[in-house]
Amino acid sequence: MMHARQLEALERAANSDPSPGTATRAQLSEVAALLGEALPALEVAVRRASNGPDPLDEAARNLVLAGGKRVRPMTTLLTTLACGGDPLVAVPLAAAAELVHSATLLHDDVIDEGELRRGRPASRVLFGNLVSVLAGDLLLTRAIELVDTAGVPDVMRDLLGTLQALIAGEVAQMHAREREDLGMDGYLNIVQGKTASLFGFACRAGARAAAAPAERIASVGRMGEHVGIAFQVIDDVLDLDGDAEHVGKRLGADLAEGKTTLPLAYALAEDASRLRVLLPAARGGDVAAACAVAALPVVRRGCARARDYAAGRSASALLELEALPPTRARALLELLVHDLTGRRA
Ligand code: IPE
Ligand code: IPE
Ligand code: MG
Ligand code: MG
Repeated sequence: MMHARQLEALERAANSDPSPGTATRAQLSEVAALLGEALPALEVAVRRASNGPDPLDEAARNLVLAGGKRVRPMTTLLTTLACGGDPLVAVPLAAAAELVHSATLLHDDVIDEGELRRGRPASRVLFGNLVSVLAGDLLLTRAIELVDTAGVPDVMRDLLGTLQALIAGEVAQMHAREREDLGMDGYLNIVQGKTASLFGFACRAGARAAAAPAERIASVGRMGEHVGIAFQVIDDVLDLDGDAEHVGKRLGADLAEGKTTLPLAYALAEDASRLRVLLPAARGGDVAAACAVAALPVVRRGCARARDYAAGRSASALLELEALPPTRARALLELLVHDLTGRRA
């Protein structure tokens, strides 16, 4: 039986958007049936990893038990299956991908002073920065431990490179704070590090668990990176045009954090005049100014262009998938790619 929260976002899409390429309930049940015991085993592994000294365990559980979309581990498990492997073998690696992600969220909410995460108060709000940083460290070590004991060749080296890329992405974002001339290359450099690297790892780990050949590992890694970039672009768009209740975090936060995201970069490049008036107040945390920024026609057009860019990356991801044999697992991965990049929450 699939964990209730695991594909919550996909289920919402199934209920609300009947357009082609969107997952239906029947297809979601098929994911659960195909992955079999791997899905509950993943949930057990992730929850077990949150055990630790009090109160770090509470801070970790506040995040981990709140669910989340579990998209990185789902991608790992489906990739293993699509490469002809046994998803049960990939469970520790899938759990490691989710735990690295969870650790970065605990740290991210400290860095960004995030208030809401997965629809709940962020762990740093409930337990403070010190406990949140240590809880993130705990989850990171659990991820490393899982990869170590799984003993799948080359995954540890890949994980270490991925962690370094994640850090590099955050450092690049720090240097880019409040810069209006970031441009496409500057934006992509940040997102490649902070988001795409982990999606790439999640896919490569899935292929490695299936003992796939090197060129297939590289191809699914590129697929994951395209999806990761598209996913972050959509996340950035949702910060400006999302529905707070569904997104589960405060909207307009990127503005207050001084981030020049892709929709904003497009808007600034098209016509910065109105934005220049509103941005200082929005960046100072003024919610009314953030709403006024989000409502500007130039920003709405920036959001639409950013969605188009994400759709292009999604198409590139699908092209990489064509190299895999045409199985149901591949078809479900294709569906996941569509859903993640067309999402409204
Ligand atoms: C949030 O990731 C951080 C980004 C990279 C945009 P998710 O949107 O996957 O977060 P959860 O796990 O579902 O909460
Ligand atoms: C999330 O990044 C954390 C990482 C990808 C490392 P953001 O700061 O852009 O995401 P949210 O909006 O807080 O989820
Ligand atoms: Mg951040
Ligand atoms: Mg953040």
